[in-house]
Amino acid sequence: MSQSSQRRTTPDLGARLGHKYLGGPHLRIVGEHSEAEVQQRIGDLLARIQNHTATVGVVGMGYVGLPFAVEKGKVGFHVIGIEQNPSRAASINRGENYIPDVKDEELRDLVKNGNLRVVCDYREVPQMDVVVICVPTPLTKNLNPDLCYVESVTRELAKYLRPGQLISLESTTYPGTTQEIMLPILEASGLKAEVDFFVSHSPERVDPGNSRYTTKNTNKVVGGIGPNSQQVAVAFYQQTIDHVVPVSSANAAEMVKVFENTFRAVNIALVNELALLCDKMNLNVWEVLDAAFTKPFGIMPFYPGPGVGGHCIPLDPHYLEWKAREYNFNTRFIALAGEINRRMPEFVREKTHRVLNMLGVSPSKSKILLLGVSYKRDLGDWRESPSLEVIKLLQADGAEVVYHDPYVPTFEEHGVVMESVALTDELLESCTMCIIATDHQAVDYDNVVGKVPHTLDTRNATKRLKGGREKVTLL
Ligand SMILES: NC(=O)c1ccc[n+]([C@@H]2O[C@H](COP(=O)([O-])OP(=O)(O)OC[C@H]3O[C@@H](n4cnc5c(N)ncnc54)[C@H](O)[C@@H]3O)[C@@H](O)[C@H]2O)c1
Repeated sequence: MSQSSQRRTTPDLGARLGHKYLGGPHLRIVGEHSEAEVQQRIGDLLARIQNHTATVGVVGMGYVGLPFAVEKGKVGFHVIGIEQNPSRAASINRGENYIPDVKDEELRDLVKNGNLRVVCDYREVPQMDVVVICVPTPLTKNLNPDLCYVESVTRELAKYLRPGQLISLESTTYPGTTQEIMLPILEASGLKAEVDFFVSHSPERVDPGNSRYTTKNTNKVVGGIGPNSQQVAVAFYQQTIDHVVPVSSANAAEMVKVFENTFRAVNIALVNELALLCDKMNLNVWEVLDAAFTKPFGIMPFYPGPGVGGHCIPLDPHYLEWKAREYNFNTRFIALAGEINRRMPEFVREKTHRVLNMLGVSPSKSKILLLGVSYKRDLGDWRESPSLEVIKLLQADGAEVVYHDPYVPTFEEHGVVMESVALTDELLESCTMCIIATDHQAVDYDNVVGKVPHTLDTRNATKRLKGGREKVTLL
């Protein structure tokens, strides 16, 4: 520990927390630091990281933060979550899990052993050696980045920042966020990055519901804002991730993540466009794609659907699109992909009208069962789900819409609450038609197709149907 930082240690708290506590919100480090002091600080932090005695803070205990906190806790780090939602915090502190990718018993054991607890404010930040930020990065109504969560967390951290800490952003964002937005806020504390504290970006790649690739065995890209930050950040992630991929800067790490999600958005748009064309040419797009994907090289599977949903694919490419404008650069693929993908719910509505015409029922006299409101199979996450737009469009046509989703018992959108209905024979027989919007594996599609007059299948979930194919229209 440097002399200058020793001078600023609050004696009572410093004694209580050992070497870790060096100041509260209003204490500032000033003066010059020798290279030896900086190396000492890096060495101290590396030692605590490598022998797993470091305290790790995780801000935002959601789909990304909670699995991350559990991985760190499992290898012995003392983990403190900071979560603004008191009911989420209380749930974790009772050992109760709410994220499907986290094993209930692992969370329970960590809480019981005192290795994981959650608080709702930032007062314990000085105890933390590493703080990882996993808060939302939504878009505004005009599709511009909304960094209010990242900025407010950074401002809170700056109040309590102390020498020797690593701050790492995991939220997906445009290249430049860590360097241009977070860094000035943190340095306004009076401490200097690369000298007093360290900053990195390491984008989370978790794929909710994917049991093969988890936080631990998914390669992790890490970029520091300088070589010192890079060194400690790489060491930190290496403790729990099988393979860490260092890149030369935080900007590069941010670009990696937005590119990955743009890649998906563009390829999904490509197959969605093919679905629109196949519809006009009376070709089965699913047959075409399945045959195309038998090629063992130079192609990879993507499938069409009612649109894109979740916290990533519909949002992240627009972060890059927005940033590109600063360079007078038009990201045409992103704009086009967004346009095509956002058009898909309208196409589902159009095909629904065709089915209703065939059945001789007007939309306003129809009762439509929508199967699946989550954006992805076998998950309960309905954020940005295209099903919500499909429901809205059909309700605007006067249709009575009910939904069933084994993973979403209820949801509220724009003040309207809907509840999942049970798939009873009575319900199925009372519906004019069904739309399969999410291909949950728990649904008995043979039973649904058998009992409903007609089904519009936007996911090819009825691929293995035993009978009744004539009662199914594919997207
Ligand atoms: N969900 C995914 O599959 C996924 C995958 C990769 C990356 N990401 C990215 O990770 C980030 C987080 O996504 P998520 O899905 O975990 O979000 P989430 O909504 O599930 O979790 C975010 C949590 O942060 C909390 N929070 C918000 N503001 C806070 C504050 N000021 N202080 C403390 N807690 C606060 C919220 O209450 C919530 O519990 C986003 O940038 C997202 O794009 C998500």
